[in-house]
Amino acid sequence: MTSLAPPPTRTDGRSLFIGGSWLTADAVYERFNPADLAQLTGTYALATPDHVRTAYDAAAAAFPGWAATPAPERANVLRRAADLLEARVDEATRRLTADMGKALRDARGEVLRSCAILRYFSGELLQPSGETYPSADPSTTLLTIEEPLGVVCAITPWNFPSAIPVWKLAPAIGFGNTVVWKPAEAASGSAVLLTEVLAAAGLPDGVLNLVTGKGSALSGALTGDPRLAALTFTGSGGVGTRLRQAVADRNVKVQLELGGKNPAVVLADADLEDAAVQIVRGAMLSTGQRCTATSRVYVERSAAPRLRELLRARVAELVVGDPFDEATDVGPLASAEQRDTVASYLKLARDEQVEVVVGGSVPDDGSCFVSPTVLAGVRPDSRLVCEEIFGPVLVLEEVDDFDAALAAANDTEFGLSSGLFTRDLGKAMAFVRRTQSGLVHVNRETAGVEPHVPFGGVKGSSSMAREQGKAARQFFTTTKTVYLRTT
Ligand code: UN1
Repeated sequence: MTSLAPPPTRTDGRSLFIGGSWLTADAVYERFNPADLAQLTGTYALATPDHVRTAYDAAAAAFPGWAATPAPERANVLRRAADLLEARVDEATRRLTADMGKALRDARGEVLRSCAILRYFSGELLQPSGETYPSADPSTTLLTIEEPLGVVCAITPWNFPSAIPVWKLAPAIGFGNTVVWKPAEAASGSAVLLTEVLAAAGLPDGVLNLVTGKGSALSGALTGDPRLAALTFTGSGGVGTRLRQAVADRNVKVQLELGGKNPAVVLADADLEDAAVQIVRGAMLSTGQRCTATSRVYVERSAAPRLRELLRARVAELVVGDPFDEATDVGPLASAEQRDTVASYLKLARDEQVEVVVGGSVPDDGSCFVSPTVLAGVRPDSRLVCEEIFGPVLVLEEVDDFDAALAAANDTEFGLSSGLFTRDLGKAMAFVRRTQSGLVHVNRETAGVEPHVPFGGVKGSSSMAREQGKAARQFFTTTKTVYLRTT
């Protein structure tokens, strides 16, 4: 197996891209390799609210020209960006792994997914746009046209440093909007690389503006600017609620993708070996740091001992270690803060004296590695069952039957993704209809998405404005209805 080193450190702090120029700021922040916190991986500009205002100036100035650019030309920029990103796939992969510790194989998959998303949207831009309608007036033609919204603010998380920005930026830009983008600090290196790629693909100055820095210092300027037309955010429920409140008194279109506590139900007739493979992938890859990760399993009692053993064995086989090693399945958590959060849940598991099927160890060497963990015998009202842990921790519960499993699966404030393992088509369709989630997987892990279908949750997981596919067109455009009378 090969192992790649982190890419060269970007030390100059020039990570603001405003109006087509790379700039630095008076203050900078440093990022470190999550697999070795002593190793500096990058120095980035700490933007101020003034930088955000300048970014809005640039985005507002660029909007009329970009909105008037024919869609095929905008599509060409996205297609070229896909080609340029693919040409830099190794560098982008290493940059992503250096940012937040995702194992190299998953990081490469994510970068290639970004290329696929860019290509998808470059095609989507050429799909039919608007509709014609019959009119009550014989001399009038009725039609709708789609128009861009204006300046979009994108606030993106660290857990998918490449794919989540791309699935917001590609449609936002593609449909003719201009963007002010604030990535999470632990995704800064990937954000710089992606911005370089989009600029090199021919994006005019001011169409995409990158501001790096602390969300807490910038959110007022990001949400308070009167030129903000739409806000797209992926991250925690708490931050999402604050962002929604910050724009509540204005007509800002809002798209929030928040957390998940995704259940997988396993019925006794399922292929248990396959179910275990899927569940472990869904729970543990990306070190469990996905809002779509499987975090609760409800298994019919007669199948429970066998499933438990299969899960234990598969989790024990996972290679945990250096994310720059191609053989690694599970890298470190993304940061010391993330490690502390996950460690506090593992401590809670010990305090509540739940059964540890496998894993459960908390690092005592200051590193960000935790062992992939399966817990059993947890009370349904435990925080381990109710809260999003965002780490490689799975809770396994036995239930009497399908109805009990469904009730337990739905007993959560979240509603992003859910899964059912069965060979019974009737039960599968009953689950599809009654599960309270925006995504439902039958005989598949709860994570993983394709770019051309809608993505999003219900309940506390989403503002319901779907992402990706044709839903992205709906979010990033508005409809103008035209009454065209010819005499
Ligand atoms: C995936 O399941 O591959 O933040 C994507 C997240 C989700 C994306 C999940 N918005 O984890």
